[in-house]
Amino acid sequence: MAAVIDNASEPQREETREGNYFVSNYPPFSFWKPERIGEAIEALNRPPAPETPMGLYVHIPFCRKRCHFCYFKVYTGMDAAAIETYLDAVRQELALYAQLPIIGGRKPRFIYFGGGTPSYLSTKQLGGLVDEMKRLFPWDEAQEVTFECEPGTLTEGKLEILRAIGVTRLSLGIEHFDDAILQSNGRAHVSKEIDRAYTFARSVGFPQINIDLIAGMMGDTDEKWRATVQRAVDLAPDSLTLYQMEVPFNTTISKEMRIHGQDVAPVAPWPVKRAWAQHCFDAFAAAGYTQTSAYTTVKDTSRSTFLYRDLLWKGADMLGTGVASFSHAGGTHYQNEHSYESYIERLGRGELPLFRALTPTHQERFVREFILQLKLGRNRRQYFLDKYGIDPNQQFAGELAALQGQGYLTFDEQGITVSREGMLQVDRLLHTFFLPEHRNARYA
Ligand SMILES: C[S@@+](CC[C@H](N)C(=O)[O-])C[C@H]1O[C@@H](n2cnc3c(N)ncnc32)[C@H](O)[C@@H]1O
Ligand code: SF4
Repeated sequence: MAAVIDNASEPQREETREGNYFVSNYPPFSFWKPERIGEAIEALNRPPAPETPMGLYVHIPFCRKRCHFCYFKVYTGMDAAAIETYLDAVRQELALYAQLPIIGGRKPRFIYFGGGTPSYLSTKQLGGLVDEMKRLFPWDEAQEVTFECEPGTLTEGKLEILRAIGVTRLSLGIEHFDDAILQSNGRAHVSKEIDRAYTFARSVGFPQINIDLIAGMMGDTDEKWRATVQRAVDLAPDSLTLYQMEVPFNTTISKEMRIHGQDVAPVAPWPVKRAWAQHCFDAFAAAGYTQTSAYTTVKDTSRSTFLYRDLLWKGADMLGTGVASFSHAGGTHYQNEHSYESYIERLGRGELPLFRALTPTHQERFVREFILQLKLGRNRRQYFLDKYGIDPNQQFAGELAALQGQGYLTFDEQGITVSREGMLQVDRLLHTFFLPEHRNARYA
């Protein structure tokens, strides 16, 4: 796991420096501890809180190549036997979960195959995994099944299988359409493969196709980004997820930056990436899309859902399987063993591969939901009063007034609305709401 610089504490530094920017959970991961694993075991052995939805996450940590910017837990060059060993371990992990009181008769409401590259699996490997998953956790109540894909790994046959097993939301890591940029950033795919994969995916009839783009890949220019945005609009995906390039520790780019100095970042400065992101959102808005979060814009808000995000950010249980996966169960957050070897070894001993855990306090849970929901662009004061008995306007009176003064948001009796400028840098602003002990600490 990468260590992280708190970018929010350095608002003046607008060049892209080494460090993570994206806030995906709270309290920061560096506060989750191996000695608190007992809390996860206790939570898993209690029945679920009434009305709490449950979801499953499966991490497939294999990729054709490691992209120069990627910080996910991934392995390249694993042979079929090593992949089969891994899939056996995931099946075993699911079987251990299926017996636990936390399930309480629930079936998954959402399922997410993430990575790494789930689409790297062959149709046979996929079939073997999904059959066992469905036997243990039937999918008939699953409203959303997301599957992440790298375009160059998709064939028509694989896409047909994905649809047949019940994938509803296909997510394609397109990132950019310029072949030179894709290549110099270490992507395994080229633009020809994007068009082919997208056309097949459409013809197979997935209810929702999402595409990922990154503003600020190495070598990007105004002209190339505009061309990429136009190609993306022309594809007419059901939703777009747009990231701004960050340079996490332990990536190929961060190592380069250490050699050549932090100030010769090969990635555009944050104000340029924000302008590119805004251009992209504007182009999609002109084509009729609605922005639904700091990173997402959708063609039809009544059809395109993202239950995984929305339920998780409101406290759903999610059992994360696979190496380094994150979970939330019965009020405790935890993460799995983070190396292939230790993950396989723990399951080989018949144990859940739990690595570190944290049970947030009432106050921490409030902050978690408050900041994650701000990424949606707004949050309602009454929701927090009802659920936590805490008034955000009182709790954060000083912080909200300061951010309003800087033009990043407005707030009133009803709640908070993040401005256009605020949405473009929301992750940086969220650190303002961290409890004092979590500020300026390592994030991961
Ligand atoms: C697990 S990958 C998606 C599936 C597949 N592995 C792929 O890359 O095509 C998740 C997404 O995270 C984004 N991402 C990864 N590293 C990033 C970084 N350093 N900065 C911004 N976005 C990043 C990319 O858009 C990528 O598509
Ligand atoms: S293909 Fe996706 S998960 Fe794999 S290295 Fe590239 S961005 Fe990371």
